[in-house]
Amino acid sequence: MSRSITPVRNRSCSGAPRFALAVVFLLAACAAPSVFGQSQEIPHLDQKDGHYRLLVDGKPFFVLGAQVHNSSGYTKALDAAWPVLHAVHCNTVMVPVYWEAIEPKQGTFDVSTVDAAVKGAREARLHLAFLWFGTWKNGAMTYVPSWVKNDPATYPPVLDEAHQQVEALSPISDSNRLADRTAFAAFMRHLKQLDGDTHTVILIQVENEAGVLGTDRDYSAQANSSFNGPVPSDVVASLGKAAPNGSTWTQVFAERAPEAFMSYWTARYMDSVAEAGKSVYPLPMYINVWPREQPGLLRPGYSSPSGGAVAYLLPMWKRVAPHIDIIAPDIYDENEDLYRNLLTLYNRPDNPLMVPETGGSVNHAKNMFLTFAANNALGISMFGIDGISADDLNKPNGPASEIAFDYALFGPGANFWRSLSDSGHMQAAIEEEGLANPALTFDDFDVAVRFGPVTNNYGGARGRGNPRRNGRVLVGQIAPNEFLISGMSANVILAPRLGSAAKKAMVVSVEQGHFEAGEWHVDRLLNGDETAFGLTLPEHGDTLRVKVRAY
Ligand code: DGJ
Repeated sequence: MSRSITPVRNRSCSGAPRFALAVVFLLAACAAPSVFGQSQEIPHLDQKDGHYRLLVDGKPFFVLGAQVHNSSGYTKALDAAWPVLHAVHCNTVMVPVYWEAIEPKQGTFDVSTVDAAVKGAREARLHLAFLWFGTWKNGAMTYVPSWVKNDPATYPPVLDEAHQQVEALSPISDSNRLADRTAFAAFMRHLKQLDGDTHTVILIQVENEAGVLGTDRDYSAQANSSFNGPVPSDVVASLGKAAPNGSTWTQVFAERAPEAFMSYWTARYMDSVAEAGKSVYPLPMYINVWPREQPGLLRPGYSSPSGGAVAYLLPMWKRVAPHIDIIAPDIYDENEDLYRNLLTLYNRPDNPLMVPETGGSVNHAKNMFLTFAANNALGISMFGIDGISADDLNKPNGPASEIAFDYALFGPGANFWRSLSDSGHMQAAIEEEGLANPALTFDDFDVAVRFGPVTNNYGGARGRGNPRRNGRVLVGQIAPNEFLISGMSANVILAPRLGSAAKKAMVVSVEQGHFEAGEWHVDRLLNGDETAFGLTLPEHGDTLRVKVRAY
């Protein structure tokens, strides 16, 4: 059986859902690409009803990514990666492209790594995001070509307070910036010729976790003079600071001045690189951030790079770097609160949400549900997929197998789920140590999620928690009395919302099914023992469409 589902439309201005306006919503496309290059439109971002979307061949596309290891952007390493990329059910592979490989001699370009990755992705029927490892890689200059590394007089590195060279190029130097721009534009020019009509490549990451490690700022003579000069007035204005014209970095930012100063110059530099690439082929471009909100000593330049797009400087980045479409936090946090905090900080009206790197643990797989449900999310990607074999990934409890479960469950219906999220009708519940019974509240119904074996005690039936704390659930409201419920290792019951006249909820029907090419397919109707004790979602995941009546 295949059916179209009718989702709830956007809320009215008063906040009440406008169910009367429900219109049959035919899902635009499944997340997995089946055919490349069906449209003249190049991949781009747009905003509809205040929500960001990534459009690929004219259709919304939610990125379920897998990133290969840092040195795997070469044919042989990629050949080993394709089977596990297939097994993880991603729709996009993220592959680094290296300045040192693209321009081994100044002015001589070698694009063979680009060609190989695009060819491989097409054969694997995956989309591709290229990551430009240029001036920056984790706060260092490790991927710049040797002709740059060996010529510090022409391509100056950052100098620390003792005037010792640090292994990072100075963001203040024009020669550094122009050299990176030239190489990046050559890469993008080739990409346009290779893929401009096919659109295998949908996103470009500019640099990697920019900033400097080893000092809080550049102490070269040029940097000192700029640091002791006035903060540009648009920087002060963008951050809503009240400072007299001509105030220095220290006067405006106090102890955060070195970081803010480096961040300003890094934003200008990265914008210039992105602009050079976009001027030849304007694909959507993002930067990935090593967020300073992650736990640690929090010393910019030492415990994390100084100069990245840390959260409190985002308004400045948006002003200074308009060619960067998405400022995206790498989130390796396993703690739910830390993870949620980063989602909130980087999800802004002027910045779509994307998580370009996350880990492969059970906790990462659980937190991934928070990204799936987040307003304005464009996608997520797991780092280091080719460190795992396809066999291991397919084993129960194997490394990253929970990520594969997430992608397999969410991917085919991603666009439908995203429409529910955009209209404010989707929520996630995830299991935590000591949190086995979260409750979600919708307009007319409360949804109680129980993780682990359910037993009776004072106050009724409660989940006792899963041994691996792996429970996670997405709930979407399709209509006032209809829900889509998807997830793993959980049991769900519905009740009329506290305060409503009705006291009980009757399950009218439960379809167990799956999405295929954006269409809902019913595998069977659940009833009897399968619904009498709540709606059970097994360890590998399941999706249920539930109609309910309050009485
Ligand atoms: C974050 C970086 O962006 C990646 O390239 C990689 O180095 C990971 N850290 C390793 O954990």
